[in-house]
Amino acid sequence: MNKLSAHQGRFIVFEGGEGAGKSTQVKALVAKLRAQGLEVVQTREPGGSPGAEALRDLLVRGDATRWSPMSELLMMYAARADHLEKVIRPALERGAWVVCDRFADSSRAYQGAGGGVAPAFIEQVDEAVVGHTQPDLVLVLDMPVEAGLRRAHSRGDAENRFESKGVVFHERLRAGFLKRAAQAPDRYRVIDADREIETISADIWSHVHGAFADLRGV
Ligand code: TMP
Repeated sequence: MNKLSAHQGRFIVFEGGEGAGKSTQVKALVAKLRAQGLEVVQTREPGGSPGAEALRDLLVRGDATRWSPMSELLMMYAARADHLEKVIRPALERGAWVVCDRFADSSRAYQGAGGGVAPAFIEQVDEAVVGHTQPDLVLVLDMPVEAGLRRAHSRGDAENRFESKGVVFHERLRAGFLKRAAQAPDRYRVIDADREIETISADIWSHVHGAFADLRGV
């Protein structure tokens, strides 16, 4: 799979709606890859570098109407540019594995499919900021919106700006993730996230193992 990527390392991204259990699964995959003796950089968006984490605070806290989808999009990509420059590209260039909790497909889903920013504009910004640094594999953790929102609300933290945007918004972005995954089945895997944690992580490991020939040799 990696023959076509523009980098030395491997770039794996987790995507999905609210409460799909991404952070638990990111941790489990990172532990398994490290157990193979690989250098793995675990990171997240929005955030992942000091500058991008500062922008994260502005983006994920406060009232749902604090920013328009267009303002969000530009701030997400400002954070992404810094994250790519400071963390992701240096790691991939030295041959490390990067496992990222959310990346550009969250902008396509939340600001595009959910928020109504024109897809053609998002692709223009993406080309300028992300360019060839595209993920090798995207794991979309999918589950029914209401169940995911219930789980996310039960966390009760202050990072709930997007959670409060309503069910219709979340249904649109779920459909956005699934459509994107269906368009590029070689790089995307849709994982049923409405199952036991262990079942999901075993499923993810088999997809990752199957996708990267170099893992089968270690
Ligand atoms: P998290 O709760 O998974 O850490 O993500 C923070 C929130 O940011 C989540 O509600 C999704 C949202 N988000 C976007 O709207 N667009 C983006 O590009 C990214 C990376 C996240």
